[in-house]
This record gives sequence, C-alpha cells and structure tokens, in this order.
Amino acid sequence: MRVTFTSRRQSAHKAEGSIELAKTKRGFDWKHKHLLTIAQLSSEEIRFLLQTAHGFSDVSTRSIKKVPALRGKVVANLFFEDSTRTRMSFHLAASRLSADVVELVAKGSSVAKGESLRDTARNIEAMGVDVIVVRHDQSGAAALLADSVNCSVINAGDGQHAHPTQGLLDAYTVAQRLGRDDFDLSGITVAIVGDIQHSRVARSNIHAMTKLGANVILVGPPTLLPSGFSQLGCELAHDFDEVLPRVDVINMLRVQFERIQSQAFPSVREYAALYGLTTQRLAQAKPNVTVMHPGPLNRGIEIESAVADGPQSTVLAQVTNGLAVRMGVLYLITRVK
Ligand code: CP
Repeated sequence: MRVTFTSRRQSAHKAEGSIELAKTKRGFDWKHKHLLTIAQLSSEEIRFLLQTAHGFSDVSTRSIKKVPALRGKVVANLFFEDSTRTRMSFHLAASRLSADVVELVAKGSSVAKGESLRDTARNIEAMGVDVIVVRHDQSGAAALLADSVNCSVINAGDGQHAHPTQGLLDAYTVAQRLGRDDFDLSGITVAIVGDIQHSRVARSNIHAMTKLGANVILVGPPTLLPSGFSQLGCELAHDFDEVLPRVDVINMLRVQFERIQSQAFPSVREYAALYGLTTQRLAQAKPNVTVMHPGPLNRGIEIESAVADGPQSTVLAQVTNGLAVRMGVLYLITRVK
C-alpha cells in the first residue's frame, strides 16, 4: 500500500481505505497485542502501522472528530509519571475512535497507599478494560504489566528504556516533512542530539529511524553518550558543529535533569554553548534541514526559542501526528486476541 501526504479531502478518502485494509488484514497480518518497544516491530510492521495512522490523520480535522472503530472498548490511562502530550494524546486518540476512557491519577488512588503496579493493573482490568496505556519511571514496567494482565498494554514511556509511540510519531513526521510517502527513510541522515543516555525517546527513535532505512548520528558529550550505543547501528559524535552540515534532520533532546545523578557537564551554560541549537548554529546546516524536539522544551538550553518556533521546526506537527499514530496503534492492537 502506498499513501500520499495530500489534501484533507483526499486524505479522508484514504482513511477509509486504510481502515478497511487493517480490518480485513488484506496483504498484512498484524499480530501484536501489545506495543512495548519498537525493537519488537519489523520494518514492514512499522510501515503498516504508519500507513494505518495516516488513514486516521484527517479525523481530527473534521467537525465531528469521531469514528466508531473502538466503540464498546475501554482504554485505561495509567500514568505514574508526569505527562502533557502523551497522556492527552492517548485520551483523545481513544475518544476519537469512540472508546470509553478512564484515567488513573496515582495521587489520590490506592497506589498512594502502597498498592503494587501489578495489583493496580489487575484490579483495573477486572473492570472490563481492553487496553492499558502505562507510563512509569521504571524501565520494564510496561513489560511487567503485559505479563500480568490479559488485556493489551501500550508503553507510554518506561524509565530510560522506550517510548515507542514517540519514536513512531517522529518517524511519521520525518516522512511527512521529506515527502517519503512509503515511509522509506533511506538516504536520510538524522542527528539525535543531547542527553542520549537518559533518553527513552532516543532509544525508540534509533530503532524507528534505522529500521526505516535512515542513517542515525548520535551527538552529545561523552558523559551523556555511552559508547555502547554504537551497537545499535549509529555513528557517535561529540562535535555538533562538525555533524550539522551532514544531516537532513536534527532531533534535539531535552536534558533530563531529573534523571542525571552526577554532574554530566560543567554548567548549563557550557552545555548550551556546545550542544544548544541556536539560530547561529542552525545556519551551518542544510537550508531545508528539519528541526525536531519531542517536548517538553528547555528553551534556551538545548534549543533557542527562535529555532523551536521557527519555520524549520516540527515541534507542533509532531504533537498533531502523535494523535494519528496513537489512533493507529489503538486500532491495530485491539484487533489481536
Ligand atoms: N514527548 C512527551 O513524551 O511529552 P510528555 O512527557 O508531555 O508526554
């Protein structure tokens, strides 16, 4: 199947085609009941998922922003760590597919009385939930839940390990921006810059981009870029200015101050001077380079406001695309018994 990033009118027509394709499994057999990491997906599965997401992309632009694909299903959002984009995006994605959505707020729930993650999830599932979307500060939390419940589990970010829907929406955004209708990113070079070590976004981006054919360069100070990352098929670099002219996409990561345990750089000012994306630094890159950031932004540290809000930035497009991607994920996993 080939999709095209075209007008909303054409896209609406394509949406039905894509939904029909997934429903009938014509030419493709989606088999994943859970989405825990992008590492579990093949290149073909990633492409099929992004094509399915593309089919849903126009729903959010309609006056009635709803399709009946998940009518009668229940999605539970279990966020044990802060979130703005991912939490609201999953809530809206499930609502737009006509699912019922329930939200667990850890503070004020029995988690605050010491109930375990496993017990919490099993009790929520006992109320007839079909999908649990979980964010947790511990790597492996989503896999633990998938082993503990019978319903589907989606990882919305677990510790430093994985944030699969972020990797998928970032790949979708690169393909959209560069006109790669078939989600083949061959020949594209992506720099992922900053606090690689603590970033689940980096790990999920590496898997998504490399599986779709892109070259990935990881850029950061040695203290935030362990040499083991080269085993994931990436080039490692410490000199941002040397890398800049070679790349088509720059994905700036948030410095995760809450996860950095020992001093990783002499000062925030020095970090910003060496690794911050400023207007001046951007001038060294290709004129049409794409600038990405998963949010939330540390403005003035890893990215200057003029760049984050500038014409090359896809920061808000990423958020918009995240909704379609999460609709695609919810749609596909709920079709697997
Ligand atoms: N990008 C991202 O995961 O943002 P939130 O933490 O707001 O969900």
